[in-house]
Amino acid sequence: MSESKVAIITGTSSNLGINIAYRVLQETPKSTNLTFIVTSRTLPKAQQVIKDINDYVYKNIPDRTGQLEFDYLLVDFTDMVSILSAYYDINKKFKKVDYFFVNAAQGVYSGIDWVGATKEILKNPIEGVTNPTYKTQRVGVKSRDGLGLVFQANVFGPYYLIHKIKHLLSNGGTIIWISSLMSQPKYLSFNDLQLLKSDASYEGSKRLVDLMHLGSFRHLSQHGIRQYVTHPGIFTSFSFYQYLNVFTYYSMLMLFYLARFFGSPWHNITGYAAANAPVHCAFHSENEDQQLKFGSATTRTGEEYLVRSEIDGTGAEDVVSYLEELAAEWDVKLKDQIVESRQP
Ligand SMILES: NC(=O)c1ccc[n+]([C@@H]2O[C@H](COP(=O)([O-])OP(=O)(O)OC[C@H]3O[C@@H](n4cnc5c(N)ncnc54)[C@H](OP(=O)(O)O)[C@@H]3O)[C@@H](O)[C@H]2O)c1
Repeated sequence: MSESKVAIITGTSSNLGINIAYRVLQETPKSTNLTFIVTSRTLPKAQQVIKDINDYVYKNIPDRTGQLEFDYLLVDFTDMVSILSAYYDINKKFKKVDYFFVNAAQGVYSGIDWVGATKEILKNPIEGVTNPTYKTQRVGVKSRDGLGLVFQANVFGPYYLIHKIKHLLSNGGTIIWISSLMSQPKYLSFNDLQLLKSDASYEGSKRLVDLMHLGSFRHLSQHGIRQYVTHPGIFTSFSFYQYLNVFTYYSMLMLFYLARFFGSPWHNITGYAAANAPVHCAFHSENEDQQLKFGSATTRTGEEYLVRSEIDGTGAEDVVSYLEELAAEWDVKLKDQIVESRQP
């Protein structure tokens, strides 16, 4: 009987999400049956990404003999009932999950501070397109569940789904979290773990991801689950197009290429190169140290390589205790919740 694998990629329709799917297809033996569980908040996007992945296989791996199947989850990670519904769906249909890529993420951006952007880029162009601080973020935004919205979308929501489907990942599953280059400790205050007072909640959420990983991977490995934290460097994001016009888009692209030319390892630019580290960890990580963070990098001529870096783990146990307690609270709150899981 041929082998079968199941891969969940949250936010599959994003530039990184779809490129993770392409690379998973390339890494999986052609005779292996593969099921992608794609996620989106909307049905049209889920349908489109399924079509795009099928087209990719048709064009690039026409001699694939294993079955390629799809399922979709319409899940919003800022809505606990939606997450519970996703859990019911997965649990009903699948006996195991082999790969779980936590890729979906959002910020609460209100725009770009163009004056600040110009100053930052003129002062230090490479730094300005590597660690930008000119994307303005709203402060204090809560979800309808009363949780910090960015905290819930990027950290607690996916953490809770994994908590619910842990039995499906046990004995062989791999979890890959997508963090960021910008997850420095300065973006997280331990008095504000839901990031409600922060004007850098996106970066803070990525710092939480790093700490959550460090504080939980050993425990998961006791259940036969391998967990890694990765970052994709910098690449063109579909979601940021809304803030750019043709001029600013091409200016940004030009700066990305210049930064790469002048030695930035992080300007991967394409989603495909950015997906290198996450997919490496899923397929080639037997001898890797799970305490490290795996980054996708490219040379100035665009050749891919990996950068492994240490994470400052201060507060990792506190973050995990906080998430565990919150998950237990939500287990109680959602105990009698009945959900219709297939309503778009
Ligand atoms: N772009 C970069 O340079 C960069 C740098 C560092 C890290 N990253 C990380 O890389 C990952 C992908 O980035 P990207 O730029 O390709 O993504 P993106 O264009 O911002 O798209 C985000 C994806 O997440 C999903 N999503 C957003 N909010 C969600 C929510 N509340 N519930 C469920 N799904 C939600 C969206 O799905 P639907 O719209 O289909 O619902 C979308 O597919 C993210 O984790 C990001 O933080 C990106």
